[in-house]
Amino acid sequence: MIPSIKGTRDILPPESDLFLEVEGLAREVLHLYRFAEIRTPIFERTELFARSVGEATDIVSKEMYTFPDRDDTSLTLRPEATASVVRAYVAHRLWERASISRLYYIGPMFRRERPQKGRYRQFSQIGAEVLGSALPQVDYELLEMLCSLLERARIQGWELRLNSVGCVADRPRYLAALRAQLEPVLPSLCADCQRRAVSNPLRVLDCKVEQDQPIIARLPTLDAYLCGECTSHFAEVQRLLSAGGVPFTLAPRLVRGLDYYTRTAFEFVQSSLGGQNALLGGGRYDGLVEALGGPRTAGAGIGFAIGEDRFVMALQAARGATDAVFAGAAIFIAVPGAPQQTAALSLARDLRAAGWACEVGEAGRKLGRQMELAARSQARWALILGETEVSQGVVQLKRLADGSQRTVARPALFATLTAEVGAPGAAATWEGAGTV
Ligand code: HAM
Repeated sequence: MIPSIKGTRDILPPESDLFLEVEGLAREVLHLYRFAEIRTPIFERTELFARSVGEATDIVSKEMYTFPDRDDTSLTLRPEATASVVRAYVAHRLWERASISRLYYIGPMFRRERPQKGRYRQFSQIGAEVLGSALPQVDYELLEMLCSLLERARIQGWELRLNSVGCVADRPRYLAALRAQLEPVLPSLCADCQRRAVSNPLRVLDCKVEQDQPIIARLPTLDAYLCGECTSHFAEVQRLLSAGGVPFTLAPRLVRGLDYYTRTAFEFVQSSLGGQNALLGGGRYDGLVEALGGPRTAGAGIGFAIGEDRFVMALQAARGATDAVFAGAAIFIAVPGAPQQTAALSLARDLRAAGWACEVGEAGRKLGRQMELAARSQARWALILGETEVSQGVVQLKRLADGSQRTVARPALFATLTAEVGAPGAAATWEGAGTV
């Protein structure tokens, strides 16, 4: 057997159903807020991430899957997609099509992190970016949208942690203060932080090493270093959130592990996730479009990415076992006699055409065995089609939970199924499934 790569995993049914459900729900909410999907390549030139995410970040300095192409161009499997969306925005001059671009994406990202529960080397994100407006109102609507997504998914126990990381003008003053405070304590910090303190002191605030935390807790926070415009931008975001009833907690040391952020930065953490409790994260990046060759005038941007694997974990925790949730309403057609195979296949085709999900048993297999298979396939109903049934133009409808059975005439079958099994399409347990 060839093992899979460390930190990757196979997502099997019924867990994969939850991924589909989350994606369907997210698409529905995103469309309500007028986002449209963008699909960018899974690999890009390495310099794209080095220039946007930042050379000194953990992601770029030690977590990227980077390899030379046959012509020696350095390529990287995307560790995140904001850089790619902004690259595409610039390449296609999207600001000429609409004053604001609202784009979303769903797909795999790759980071060579130490694998643990909720942290993988290939994971999936559902992300969105709003490009072309610096208004606090945009920040508000994005956060409100995320709350309504969590609400629709019935995920509870979340907390929105909010900060402002200021603009490029604020950064040097804050970094100087950080450096000054870090210098005397440098030898007590972890090796990574000793390096970060020199290359990019902001990243010291991302450190997760236990012994470093008391020192980090004493470092100056950004709020005292924000310029007037950044202060009022942040105040307005908070005012809108309060007015809109969106609960948040100020997190003055939240800087996020990517260099492109400016002003609003946020994370949603969720109590059931354990160590890797960040369900999603995001923020503003008003200088990134310009840094990647676009115009400053269309340059403001804000976005987020949900860790889809973690969102699914939170759903599982909220609902209990996925098997119970996804006990399908599917119909199993049992065909005890080989000659009835064609009739069974044609019945299945009619059912599917009308919108009922169904499975056909192996024609000619013993009825008892077919019933076992029906139970294992999680079907709730069986239709038995034997020689007598076909010759009399009827079927046996059996409820698998209690074994009760009755004869239904073929012409009345669809009406009976609608009454007993539910309307066609009701096989999906999630109310929004299939409507997107
Ligand atoms: P990020 O915080 O690096 O932000 O990732 C966003 C989310 O992806 C995290 O909150 C987490 O749920 C999930 N995630 C990250 N790494 C892993 C992993 N190794 N395994 C499982 N899940 C993971 C970004 O990626 C930014 N591009 C977000 C953004 C969009 N900012 C502005 N626009």
